[in-house]
Amino acid sequence: MKIIKSVAEMKNLSSTIHRSGSSIGLVPTMGALHKGHLSLLERINNCCDYSVMSIFVNPAQFGPKEDFSKYPRPFDIDCEKAQAAGCDAVFAPSDDEMYPKNYSTYVNVENITERLCGASRPGHFRGVTTVVMKLFNIVNPQVAVFGQKDAQQVIVLKRMVHDLNMSINIDVAPIVREDDGLAMSSRNMYLTQEEHRDALMIYKGIKAAQDIYIAGERSSNVLNDAVRNEIMKSELIDIEYVEIFDTVQLQKMEYVLSPALIAAACRTKQSKTRLIDNCVIGGTL
Ligand code: PAJ
Repeated sequence: MKIIKSVAEMKNLSSTIHRSGSSIGLVPTMGALHKGHLSLLERINNCCDYSVMSIFVNPAQFGPKEDFSKYPRPFDIDCEKAQAAGCDAVFAPSDDEMYPKNYSTYVNVENITERLCGASRPGHFRGVTTVVMKLFNIVNPQVAVFGQKDAQQVIVLKRMVHDLNMSINIDVAPIVREDDGLAMSSRNMYLTQEEHRDALMIYKGIKAAQDIYIAGERSSNVLNDAVRNEIMKSELIDIEYVEIFDTVQLQKMEYVLSPALIAAACRTKQSKTRLIDNCVIGGTL
């Protein structure tokens, strides 16, 4: 497996692979790899000739009070995991390589970035779309895969690709969970044991709403309450939001009559860990 740190070298490699007639698939990550990330690599290996995983903790998507400096960076272990999962190249640029002095260009998707996670993390999605656009331009993949775990991120990136007429396929991978049901996240390592136990209520709540939807319930309020009632059983977790939105324009819906996203974001009281989870009802992302 190649480990590439410079933009110029990555662009050269990408041109060489394309000249040979092979396709490239990209898995963008911020590292601290878990089975969720590795499942994305598996999908890319199944559909593309050459897999590139980027590992870059993107400063532009962290707010001033967020965990950028303490975000885990176990780079050597990540490379071992990527290699064992069949990755052909890891692209891991430095901050200066991606955002050199005088850097001034940002990509902003409007409206849908202001709701859900965007409401409590202003500027977050502007950082995500900017770095992903840069990664697309540097790696030039035919396919890029993203996890449904970050559902709003998928919706925003699909909107960017559509609006800017980009020729890239966005593949969406299902949420990989711990054996107990907690959605895998690089941030789960911040949780205390008690918080981890209570964090399961988020998934339980979402599943409860999914179950009553399958049984015929269509009222957003009733589905929303099913999620909240479960999470509120925990004294260790605060709800940031529980929302039910359509999967394209992220508009509120009184009744779920087209594909909808049930999304929750919570914060644990002790370790202040932010946790998100979701499910899509009546369709897919
Ligand atoms: P990161 O949080 O490292 O996640 C990288 C990719 O892994 C994202 O597409 C995310 O949705 C996916 N992922 C995370 N946990 C998952 C799980 N439990 N199951 C399935 N997929 C999962 O998301 C980012 O990084 C960044 O915003 C990035 C897109 C790399 C831009 O900086």
